[in-house]
Amino acid sequence: MLDLKRQYAPLHQELLQALGHVLETQQFILGEPVAGFEEAAARQLGLSHAIGCASGTDALWLALASAEIGPGAAVITTPFSFFASVSAILRAGAQPMLADIDPATFNLDPAAVQNLLAGPEGKAVKAILPVHLYGQPADMARFRGIAKTRSLKLIEDAAQAFGASFGRAPVGALGDIAAFSFYPTKNLSAAGDAGMVTTNSPELAERARMLRQHGMRRRYHHDELGWNARMDGFQGAILAVKLRYIDQWTAARRKLAVDYDKLFRAAGIAESGPYPNHGIVLPHEVAGSKHVWHQYVIRTNRRDELRAFLADRKIGSEIYYPVPLHLQEALKSLGYKEGDFPEAERAAREVLALPMFPELREDEQRTVVGAIAEFLSD
Ligand SMILES: Cc1ncc(COP(=O)(O)O)c(C=O)c1O
Repeated sequence: MLDLKRQYAPLHQELLQALGHVLETQQFILGEPVAGFEEAAARQLGLSHAIGCASGTDALWLALASAEIGPGAAVITTPFSFFASVSAILRAGAQPMLADIDPATFNLDPAAVQNLLAGPEGKAVKAILPVHLYGQPADMARFRGIAKTRSLKLIEDAAQAFGASFGRAPVGALGDIAAFSFYPTKNLSAAGDAGMVTTNSPELAERARMLRQHGMRRRYHHDELGWNARMDGFQGAILAVKLRYIDQWTAARRKLAVDYDKLFRAAGIAESGPYPNHGIVLPHEVAGSKHVWHQYVIRTNRRDELRAFLADRKIGSEIYYPVPLHLQEALKSLGYKEGDFPEAERAAREVLALPMFPELREDEQRTVVGAIAEFLSD
């Protein structure tokens, strides 16, 4: 599914040198290794401010807290994402409100958001938090329009989408403030937990920097209740090295996605979506945006059987995500029930992520496609 060692092998010396520098300078928390990465990341993404932090989850919380989304505020997000998209809203003291997804992209559906805003609960909403799921940007033109009309904050969960863009603008600069994750399996990854907040607003950037250090602007003077959400120096150093390669890795992912598409079509098993029938529905890149293929996710109505078939042939696959967030035990108190978000529930039954990482070889891709074609020929 993912072989991180193939990325590590050619970077071995460079990474050791960067880690050695942190040891020599003893800058273990924030400091020059993190500041260097922040500057380089902001420059590379083409936005004004990048603030390193301890994880993507912390980045989401920092983004919300910096935008002053807290008690009394409701935030609309998707039920089809990693748990943190919703749990961070609760940690910030705000109320998550869910709206269904677009079955063609798996991203939050602007029409569903608009319906929610038009209803009686719409008044409490202070922010929209779209997730760029699997590396495909959400429909930010529509969300910007909605946010502007209703004076809402727009907060991006860009955890899976480093380097993606919408129109000409980079993910991370499409709303007021954004959160990235550098969890080891992400496109740009640390050697442990790490994350980053980005924004073009100097005020929001200043707040995020203050909140990630227990609300301190001056040493040991706490202006607000923040938290310890700092990035450590080793992660900053590693990320700065890997940042030099991310464009090349993204290009490799994009080529692999094109090749998967060609191979599946040549095998005659691709169906036009959004729902599968006897074959598989392939993912696609929305026109006008740049997908960074964090995951390559197909849809099939024999998902679990296919997954077992692939596993028997030692082919990795994964389900992101088997249980939509409104049906998670820990989120029962939100009061949702089965049937509330039919698109998210259907996606949770049909999605399957196939091997996708920059170093995946062509012969391996052929094996994956061949095995799926064999399974479907039954
Ligand atoms: C969409 C999404 N949001 C938030 C997160 C949280 O990031 P982290 O695991 O770095 O806390 C992740 C990654 O795991 C994610 O995929």
